[in-house]
Amino acid sequence: MPAKHVVIAGATGAVGREFLTVLEKLDFPVASLRLLASKRSAGQKLRFRGEDIPVEEMSPTSFKGADLALFSAGSAVSKEYEKYVTDAGCVMIDNSSAFRLREGTPLVIPEINPESAKKHSGVIANPNCSTIIMLMAVFPLHRRYRVHRIVVSTYQAASGAGWAAMEELKEATRAVLENRPFVPQKMPFPYGFNLFSHNSAVGENGYNEEEMKMVKETRKILNDNSIAISPTCIRVPVLRAHAESIHIEFAEKAPSEDEARQLYAEFPGVRVVDDRARNHFPMPIEASGQFDCLVGRIRADLSLPGRALNIFVAGDQLLKGAALNAVQIAQLL
Ligand code: A2P
Repeated sequence: MPAKHVVIAGATGAVGREFLTVLEKLDFPVASLRLLASKRSAGQKLRFRGEDIPVEEMSPTSFKGADLALFSAGSAVSKEYEKYVTDAGCVMIDNSSAFRLREGTPLVIPEINPESAKKHSGVIANPNCSTIIMLMAVFPLHRRYRVHRIVVSTYQAASGAGWAAMEELKEATRAVLENRPFVPQKMPFPYGFNLFSHNSAVGENGYNEEEMKMVKETRKILNDNSIAISPTCIRVPVLRAHAESIHIEFAEKAPSEDEARQLYAEFPGVRVVDDRARNHFPMPIEASGQFDCLVGRIRADLSLPGRALNIFVAGDQLLKGAALNAVQIAQLL
């Protein structure tokens, strides 16, 4: 692959910083790298391949001469800048929800629907983190034994709400330990030693935006509007790496536990952690910093014998749930 002129938009954020790590670790051919953020961060320096690179304030002209822009600065910024990026002839890989469901914009998990990426017209969307982590655990089974219904509960880390939320979790925890009052700024409720329903707006049907993303994005990625998904999304006091408990019902029959393990072993990006003797299963602390999603607690569902499996997955929200998936999309191009 010829080296690319790369721009990172939102470079100082939780995902933005991981773009730098992933580009380095995957040895992505970078001809030049420009780091963009808001005015607040202009002049700050971030390290890439042993060099300190200054952060610049994002402007409409920031994308001139660039081949690839990795965006993670929120939906509003992505919408505002899309035109400037594509007019500059640069491909935008966007981590926000701005374009995920838009017709004509591919929504891609490289291990699952790589062919979609090629059909882009300037913008490719990176799916929601909970959706990516769920599908990395469901798709290896689905491609062999068709899945027709999923019931999923998430245990989502602070990282999904950005850098400030991670800092708030630490500060809120310290405040509890030191018996100090603490007023949440970023999160809607006290986060130390607590959990709450996902901090996105709740719609008329009683499901929040995160839950509806899991439903709609899964259907688009799998190109299957018939797949039924019942999600419950919860924010837990974990710094990074989401976990999910997933009940999977199959259209005809479920794979056996051993077949499921075999299907995972053959699938890139997934690692089985399923040690019943030691009660050792996927944990956010072991998924953090890992490129693979960890899958375990693979067991036949007692209530639907032969028709359903239950699993538990943990995946790094900042990596496979965001920066890694985006850079893998860039590799596909
Ligand atoms: P900054 O650090 O200067 O605020 P996170 O998801 O961790 O909250 O990070 C969001 C990223 O998006 C940060 O890099 C942030 O920069 C950047 N950002 C937020 N608003 C803007 C904006 N209006 N223009 C450019 N970058 C922005």
